[in-house]
Amino acid sequence: MATILITGCSSGIGKHCALRLREEGWNVVATARKPADIEMLNDAGLTGVYLDYTESSSLAAAVEVALEAGDGRIDALFNNGAYGQAGAVEDVSTDVLRRQFEANFFGWHELTNLVVPHMRKAGAGRIVHCSSILGIVPYRWRGAYNASKFALEGLASTMRLELRGSGIHVSLIEPGPIVSKFTTNGLQHFVDNIDVDNSVHHKVYRKQLERLQSEGGVNRFRLPPEAVYVKLRHALTSHRPRAHYHVTVPTKFMGVAKRLLPQPLIDRLLLKSG
Ligand SMILES: NC(=O)c1ccc[n+]([C@@H]2O[C@H](COP(=O)([O-])OP(=O)(O)OC[C@H]3O[C@@H](n4cnc5c(N)ncnc54)[C@H](OP(=O)(O)O)[C@@H]3O)[C@@H](O)[C@H]2O)c1
Repeated sequence: MATILITGCSSGIGKHCALRLREEGWNVVATARKPADIEMLNDAGLTGVYLDYTESSSLAAAVEVALEAGDGRIDALFNNGAYGQAGAVEDVSTDVLRRQFEANFFGWHELTNLVVPHMRKAGAGRIVHCSSILGIVPYRWRGAYNASKFALEGLASTMRLELRGSGIHVSLIEPGPIVSKFTTNGLQHFVDNIDVDNSVHHKVYRKQLERLQSEGGVNRFRLPPEAVYVKLRHALTSHRPRAHYHVTVPTKFMGVAKRLLPQPLIDRLLLKSG
C-alpha cells in the first residue's frame, strides 16, 4: 500500500482528497492543527497528525509519523495547507507578509526538503503542491497570497527540473474557485491584520467584507474539491504526471490568456474581474 502525507486536512481540498485516497486504498497520513480535527481524521481511518507549517518541530515530527506508517517509505507528499491574507499591498505590513510566507511557502519548502531524501533513497516519489490561479495571474487586494503562490510556482518548477532522472516527479495543481472554508478562514486574517478604516481602500474593503461573509456554492466557475482530487490522482498515479494542472474555467482561461494576450488587455480583464 502506497503512503501519502497530506497537509491541511481539517477541511476543504485537503480533507476531501485525504478521504478519497483512503477509499482508493492509500495509506494516508493526514495533518491538521486542532485536536478535534486530528481526532476526526483518525476516526475516518487515516493517520491524523499535528502539523503547523510555521512550527519546524511539527514538520519533522509529522515526517517521522509518516515514515513509521509507511514502513520507512513516503511515496507521495501533497503540500496543501495554507491561508489567504487579503488586503492591498500598501496596507499589508512586512511582518504580516512574512507570516503569509511562513505558512504558504517556507513551511512547504522545509517539509518538502525533509521528505526528498527518503524519496531519493527509494528512487521514486511524487510531490504535488496546491498552488492557485493566483500563482498564475495577479489579483487586486490579494498581493500577499499572490506573492506566496508565485514564489511556490518558481521554487517547485525549479525543483521539477533538478529532480529529473531521480524518479521523483513534481506537479503543481492550480485551482480557481473551489468550495471550501478558504474565504471564511481568510476573513479572520483580514480583520486582524488590515486597518480598514484608515486605508485609502476602505470603500472597497467594506464591499469585500460583505462578500467575504459567505462562501459561494458550486456553480459553473466554482467547483467542489473533487475537481482537484481528479488532478491529484493523475499526478500521483500517471506514468507521465504533468507539471501543471489547471482546475476550473477561470484558471484555464487565464492560463491561455496569459500566453496569448498582450499585457494591457490582460490587465483590463484582471481589473474587471476583481
Ligand atoms: N478554495 C479555493 O478557492 C482555492 C483556490 C485556489 C487554491 N486553493 C488552495 O487550496 C489549498 C487548500 O485550501 P482550501 O480551499 O481547502 O481551504 P480551507 O478549507 O481553508 O483549508 C485550508 C487548510 O489549511 C490549513 N492551514 C492553514 N494554515 C496552516 C498552517 N500554518 N499550517 C498547516 N496547515 C494550515 C487549515 O487548517 P486549520 O483548519 O487549522 O486552519 C486547513 O486545514 C490551499 O493551498 C489554497 O491556497 C484554494
